[in-house]
Amino acid sequence: MTVSRTVSVELGDRSYEIAIGRDNLAEAGPAIVQATGARRVALVTVPEVGRRYAGRLSRSLRSAGVTVRRVDVPDGDKTKNLRQLGKLYEEFLDAGLDRSSAVVALGGGMVGDLAGFAAATYLRGIPFVQVPTTVLAMVDASVGGKVAVNLKQGKNLVGAFHQPRLVWVDTATLQSLPLRERRAGAAEIVKAAAIWDESFFTQLERDLGGVLDLEPEALDPALERACEIKAQVVSRDEREAGLRMLLNFGHTLAHAVETLSGYRRVLHGEAVAMGMVFAARRSVDLGLAPASAAERVEALLAAAGLPTELPEWPRGAYLKALRVDKKKQDARIRFVVLRGLGKADTVPLTPAEILPKGARRGR
Ligand SMILES: NC(=O)c1ccc[n+]([C@@H]2O[C@H](COP(=O)([O-])OP(=O)(O)OC[C@H]3O[C@@H](n4cnc5c(N)ncnc54)[C@H](O)[C@@H]3O)[C@@H](O)[C@H]2O)c1
Ligand SMILES: [Zn+2]
Repeated sequence: MTVSRTVSVELGDRSYEIAIGRDNLAEAGPAIVQATGARRVALVTVPEVGRRYAGRLSRSLRSAGVTVRRVDVPDGDKTKNLRQLGKLYEEFLDAGLDRSSAVVALGGGMVGDLAGFAAATYLRGIPFVQVPTTVLAMVDASVGGKVAVNLKQGKNLVGAFHQPRLVWVDTATLQSLPLRERRAGAAEIVKAAAIWDESFFTQLERDLGGVLDLEPEALDPALERACEIKAQVVSRDEREAGLRMLLNFGHTLAHAVETLSGYRRVLHGEAVAMGMVFAARRSVDLGLAPASAAERVEALLAAAGLPTELPEWPRGAYLKALRVDKKKQDARIRFVVLRGLGKADTVPLTPAEILPKGARRGR
């Protein structure tokens, strides 16, 4: 048994499974056929990931009777754009993909978002499968059906909700993922625990080192639990009417940091780590959470080697970045706070209230 765990995402007739296993790429073919019915597949990946893992996945698909066209897109989030999207459509047409075909995304969240949006829109939508190869994509980006591309004005400004038919996780692919990327992905695992499940948080206080070292006893249950939490939130609020906003814990300031740093020097998960510590401290200052909640969030992220302090940029720069955050509603932002560990809520705050004069940005 190489699929050791499955998590269900319950969405009526669009429900699907997240299959988590080790060294299971060679078995993905039949599962993908079963989930999509496809006999023709575009396998979208980036060269770095494709070189290592596309062969096994394609062979498995071919022995399940599927015609496979591999399509490589250049690495990096700047590739998640309209031009690459146009190229994908042309490749899909050239490969003869029709409405009964499928798109398989093999890679991190960048590939998943781009290929997923292509699948959502090509011929008004064709089946789609995620084979995530980063921690972040396994626990976050590949689950929940949000797909998008960036515009030069901002990230994820053009997108859709298009649920995958299957998420196929091979934890062995993480062995080639750099430690810095593993840490960044771990920030989203910590997020899931912080907003939803105190006992999971306590488990991470013991196990997160093992997760980063890819020890199966620590990694597999942590991936499973983080996926379960995302799956539960998404099942109850697929289109982000309320509950799903809790997944934005730490993300208001994270987006500001990403904007101000030009996305390059800081990884998304690193920005989220800083944003979570900030939001947890704000929750304490607002009288919503005990000081210990913020201390534990900070300690866990620091132990994982993640940054916990926002860069010391001028308050005015942060405020400007917060005002253009696309999640703003009128002048107020639904800022995600903790009401203790494992319990989150949103509070409508203006940027100036989120970051009052004198609020600690760094040490
Ligand atoms: N749709 C969602 O709900 C959602 C949620 C969170 C993030 N995202 C999106 O996900 C993207 C970030 O995802 P990411 O952190 O996975 O980044 P990524 O896809 O850019 O991958 C990070 C780097 O790791 C490399 N890589 C991937 N797998 C590897 C492996 N197994 N071995 C070696 N190298 C590997 C990639 O080539 C890349 O250089 C962003 O575009 C973000 O907007 C989407
Ligand atoms: Zn995130």
